[in-house]
Amino acid sequence: MSEAVVPIEDRGYQFADGVYDVLKFHGRKPVRLAQHLERLAESCAGLLIEGVPSAAEWRNIISELADRSELSHDVAEQTILYIQVTRGVAPRLHVPPIPQPPPTVIAYFKAAPRYATELRENGVAMISHPDERWSRCNIKSIALLPVVLAKHAARAAGVFEALLVRDGIVTEGGASNAFCVRDGVVFTHPEGPKILSGVTRGIVLDAARRAGIEVREVPVTLEEFRAADEAFLSSTTMNVMPVTRLDGRPIGDGRVGAITRHLAETVEEIIQDELTLEP
Ligand code: PDD
Repeated sequence: MSEAVVPIEDRGYQFADGVYDVLKFHGRKPVRLAQHLERLAESCAGLLIEGVPSAAEWRNIISELADRSELSHDVAEQTILYIQVTRGVAPRLHVPPIPQPPPTVIAYFKAAPRYATELRENGVAMISHPDERWSRCNIKSIALLPVVLAKHAARAAGVFEALLVRDGIVTEGGASNAFCVRDGVVFTHPEGPKILSGVTRGIVLDAARRAGIEVREVPVTLEEFRAADEAFLSSTTMNVMPVTRLDGRPIGDGRVGAITRHLAETVEEIIQDELTLEP
């Protein structure tokens, strides 16, 4: 990988004209590969990027990459697969080139981030931050500047993640989906152009179904989120991460709630169950 080069006129490099996805592997077994590949295809289609590998081609690419990277077969070892597709290399003009050059396709395995047990046991703190992203957040675009700045603000405030707020409504975390719990019901922003449709969000919804917990996919205001009994985030790298403080104040009693804990465990169970089903 140290020998890979990016041409100066790659449109990803000059225009952020590209998309990405992030997957988790347990040994050689990916979590919800089909859903990630489907989302990647939708992101490419959303940007009208042509000539991208099909799902079947992606499966071959990933399996060859796993071999060449000597990826462990031990399911206890977790790894991240980063995939990026840009519109390719062409002389710098804003208008997309015709005919389209072949897309630049990049994929590599990297170590999965580890989160201290303490964070899962005590929950993390967040700050609310204006959601300054564009109006097509369902596309996993590599143009991440508003998120970079939101994460910068979160770090400066000494908290784990930013909670993005658009027109008074909580959309999601900087790189995670956001949930709150009130009177035993889980609330999260509906799918659509204002959020990324997280694959882990889908596992959380399945977990709630399995656990018989009601979920309402409706917009929640920042005030309602602050007044919730519990809150948590979901993403490929974290699975479920409890949130116990927001804007310097505790959420509920400031401890990880029972529903959050139960959903976190059920998400882990579902992932483990599905790993044994994958070939
Ligand atoms: N981020 N929302 C946003 C804006 C995200 O960037 C992510 C993922 C999610 C969660 O999606 P999933 O459950 O499919 O990982 C929600 C990845 C991990 C990243 O940017 O590295």
